Amino acid sequence: MLIRILKDYDAVSAYAADIITEVVKGNPSCVLGLATGSTPIGTYRKLIEEYRAGEVDFAQVRTYNLDEYYPMAPDHVQSYRHFMEEHLFRHINIVSENTHVPDGTAENPAAMCRDYDAAIRGAGGLDLQLLGIGRNGHIGFNEPGASLFASTHLTPLTENTIEANARFFSSPKEVPTHAVTMGMASILGARKILLLISGKDKHEALLRLYDDTVDPQCPATFLKLHPDVTVLADEEAYHG
Ligand code: GLP
Repeated sequence: MLIRILKDYDAVSAYAADIITEVVKGNPSCVLGLATGSTPIGTYRKLIEEYRAGEVDFAQVRTYNLDEYYPMAPDHVQSYRHFMEEHLFRHINIVSENTHVPDGTAENPAAMCRDYDAAIRGAGGLDLQLLGIGRNGHIGFNEPGASLFASTHLTPLTENTIEANARFFSSPKEVPTHAVTMGMASILGARKILLLISGKDKHEALLRLYDDTVDPQCPATFLKLHPDVTVLADEEAYHG
């Protein structure tokens, strides 16, 4: 695991966008695992700038998002599908059919999760998985106590995450109680992982990446088992 501390959020975003652009240039039909949350927004903004400058082409890129609330309609303003459309997809030349977000309306979530993993495998696997991190070290919606061996699955959200995500809803009661998330095994199956950490709220979570322990109570520590992880953190997250 390579941890780089960069000056600020902008520097993290620019660096992350460069890494993603390199992957796309190296393989124009690559498979990207994408993430939501406030942290990757700056990275997506940089990717849009690079696209507009003619530096990167998404025409053949395929994407699979990490997670989605459940139940959640794709056109709901707080859905992760909506987030991706607003913050990235509608601004670049990606083909809509090549973008995938777990279906928050699936009647049979277990079957949908199996299909989602099968689709990723069928696409050749994830070339790069972009990640943010929860204050409690969650990855996607793999909350403390998560299994290392889980593939995509339906999971209840912890109080901590509901409270953290309540800022996007009119009240904590409106935050969905569940989500569909890629599991740690799906994430660790990516060939390359890029984890972004910004802000002092994430200080404790970042510190857990420096020691040599793997602790299911802090799912981000599972990433230490992967051979190609780059962590980009800003000074606020580092100093707390
Ligand atoms: C959510 C998402 C995670 C994300 C986390 C942190 O719970 N499921 O994928 O990493 O929030 O979000 P933020 O970047 O807004 O702090």
